Amino acid sequence: MRKIIIDTDPGQDDALAMLLAFGFPKELEVLGVTCVAGNVPLALTTRNALVICELAGRTDVPIFAGADRPLERDLVTAEEVHGKTGLDGPDWDEPTMALQPDHAVDWLVETLMAADDGEITLCPVGPLTNIAMALLREPGIAAKIAEIVLMGGGYFAGGNITPAAEFNSYVDPHAADIVYRSGIPLVAMPLDVTHEALMPKAWISSIGELGTEIGTKTEAMLSFYERFDVERYGDEGGPLHDPAVVAYLLKPELYSGKNVYVEIETSSELTMGATVVDWWGATRKEPNCTWMTKVDADGFFGLIYEALAVQ
Ligand code: BDR
Ligand code: CA
Repeated sequence: MRKIIIDTDPGQDDALAMLLAFGFPKELEVLGVTCVAGNVPLALTTRNALVICELAGRTDVPIFAGADRPLERDLVTAEEVHGKTGLDGPDWDEPTMALQPDHAVDWLVETLMAADDGEITLCPVGPLTNIAMALLREPGIAAKIAEIVLMGGGYFAGGNITPAAEFNSYVDPHAADIVYRSGIPLVAMPLDVTHEALMPKAWISSIGELGTEIGTKTEAMLSFYERFDVERYGDEGGPLHDPAVVAYLLKPELYSGKNVYVEIETSSELTMGATVVDWWGATRKEPNCTWMTKVDADGFFGLIYEALAVQ
């Protein structure tokens, strides 16, 4: 069983990453969920994480509020994609489950320092502010982390918030820079791979047909969420970014990519947050990341369906 921490800014696709992990409790032990400002401000990302844990009946999972803004830049949010609440689509009751009193960064440092070397896998699916703050606070946590499997960046697919940058790396490029320089084994799920698996309409409907509360709410979330990308890219369906991180942990054979050296743009306004991937080894620098580009889309959507069907 793998011990993981999900660092997130829910977001409907973040919600699906959490629900996917909760669907495989024998394979993944979710030690906690740490929230960060991103898709919507922190007060809403924490509220949304509580809502999703309650939906899954996982009120035993501790949820922590973390950074309410990026390390150096002003917060940029994505209500255009995720709606005003970040979790638009279904009607939600306000959560009754309580947030933990500790700050997410304090809890991350404490939990990691108490762990064995390489014991815990971090799964960030939002801006990397909390993770970078924890590394700055206590560099010793690096040894405790088995790997960081993150959703962020884009190279061949370009950007989605600017022509050059993907949302998570654009919102906190300085944090991403710290993570990419940390020496911790990294696996990146960039737009290059998430755009390879577009949600089939029939798949979204099949989730609703489960007839459960999770099924009905998820269908409503995904129907709302995908309208933005379908309008923008004119494709059959929208990409579902964040669950790629959890799917990789459950079934790494679904993915393929390459070990590459990646650097983050932190100075040019034009290309701020761009993930510059040395795909052809031009710099001759040691790879710092496995950059995924291909996915078995049917396998990916099948896995999510399986997770939702058992909850
Ligand atoms: C990423 O940005 C957010 O809007 C999504 O939740 C995902 O983490 C995709 O660029
Ligand atoms: Ca996210």
